[in-house]
Amino acid sequence: MFSLPFFQLLPLFPAIPNAVFAQMEEFTTMYHHSLRQDVFIKEEYHYLNVPKVGTFTVYDSLDCTFECLGNPSCLSFNLAAYKGADGKLWCELLSSEKYSNPEEYKRNESFHHFSIKTPCMSSPCQDGGTCVANYKYHSFECRCKEGFYGEFCEKVAKSCQDVYNRLTEKFNVTQLVTLLLDSKLVSVLCHFGNFGCGDGGWTPVMKMDGNKQTFYYETAFWSNKETFNLDGGKTGFDSQETKLPSYWNTSFSKICLGMKINNQIRFIVINKQANSLYSLIADGQYRYTSLGRDTWKSLIGSEASLQLNCNKEGFNAAVSDSPDYSKARIGIIGNYENDCRTCDSRIGFGTGGYPDNNSSCGNEAKHFPDNAEKHIKTMGYILVQ
Ligand SMILES: *[C@@H]1O[C@H](CO)[C@@H](O)[C@H](O)[C@H]1NC(C)=O
Ligand SMILES: *[C@@H]1O[C@H](CO)[C@@H](O)[C@H](O)[C@H]1NC(C)=O
Ligand SMILES: *[C@@H]1O[C@H](CO)[C@@H](O)[C@H](O)[C@H]1NC(C)=O
Ligand SMILES: *[C@@H]1O[C@H](CO)[C@@H](O)[C@H](O)[C@H]1NC(C)=O
Ligand SMILES: *[C@@H]1O[C@H](CO)[C@@H](O)[C@H](O)[C@H]1NC(C)=O
Repeated sequence: MFSLPFFQLLPLFPAIPNAVFAQMEEFTTMYHHSLRQDVFIKEEYHYLNVPKVGTFTVYDSLDCTFECLGNPSCLSFNLAAYKGADGKLWCELLSSEKYSNPEEYKRNESFHHFSIKTPCMSSPCQDGGTCVANYKYHSFECRCKEGFYGEFCEKVAKSCQDVYNRLTEKFNVTQLVTLLLDSKLVSVLCHFGNFGCGDGGWTPVMKMDGNKQTFYYETAFWSNKETFNLDGGKTGFDSQETKLPSYWNTSFSKICLGMKINNQIRFIVINKQANSLYSLIADGQYRYTSLGRDTWKSLIGSEASLQLNCNKEGFNAAVSDSPDYSKARIGIIGNYENDCRTCDSRIGFGTGGYPDNNSSCGNEAKHFPDNAEKHIKTMGYILVQ
């Protein structure tokens, strides 16, 4: 009779890959008799519809448990609720589990579902995040929805720049993201990359239609904290108007302004640090910018027209104590006389006054402007970063 000396068996063990070895250890632990009851939890009348890694007919749930533990690919199983004609139960070993396939997990009168206990059982991932268990280390990972982050998806981005900073690949894209704005979750379309205002994550604030009076100079929307048509924040540079809570709850160092004429959008940037656009506009105080008239005119293009004098530009640009003249919440006003007392031209957002009090965004110019009388009403877009 031939018997292999014991030391000759030893070299066989290093040939087992580490990963397999670790799994063997793990399943040995789980198969420990006293732990057996604890390893799986049963949910009655449920079925998980994912690829099977084995099917058996068994006498009871312990047999199916045993089969699952013996198969390293098995993470959960479905067991028939009722015996077949042969007096046995149908047992399906599954390659995945319900926490990472919630949409495939359904109530089913013919099956009970058994899943290995995991840290995902306590639903640790918040705000719609998906829990992915790591069985080897008895740990988990949360795959968060866009805008959410943190170990448990418990943190929410406050601006598109927040989201942009955590992107690993920075493309020119727009993406619907949930932001925390003034303690509320708001879904907005973030603009990432450079669409004309420079790189970064741009948070939309307002979109206005120069033909409408929604955001004309005197409306309360410039001085209050009320939103207008939140749905308009979920679409891009279209003709829907909107005012988002980012007007008063998003701090920034840059403002991106865009005007759309004949389907072409021209952008300019104001480099200005502030707690919010609200903090620059709501009190009605004039705050200057120094972009120069040519930059403001570039919003309109070759048709832009402005009188040569005054050139008061910035936030709440208006004629002091004479509300009937040209004025702009964000923009520039011009005058024929060499002062700022009787302005009849402007380029801007949230405009009003002579010569067309109804035009709330675009270019109005009369009385010897540099490029003829103009009445150009545009869609205007305001974003911040
Ligand atoms: C239960 O699941 C099985 C397998 O997918 C399916 O054939 C059966 O129709 C389901 N029964 C019910 C009541 O949903
Ligand atoms: C993004 O768009 C800008 C402006 O159109 C362009 O210069 C830049 O190359 C684009 N970047 C990428 C990564 O596509
Ligand atoms: C935004 O709102 C929250 C709560 O309403 C407040 O704590 C926070 O200071 C605000 N941030 C800005 C920049 O206004
Ligand atoms: C300017 O237009 C607004 C909105 O159409 C209107 O409410 C306001 O009374 C007008 N002001 C003047 C002086 O016509
Ligand atoms: C401004 O709008 C009002 C009503 O909305 C209208 O009566 C008036 O004619 C308009 N003015 C101009 C200059 O278009």
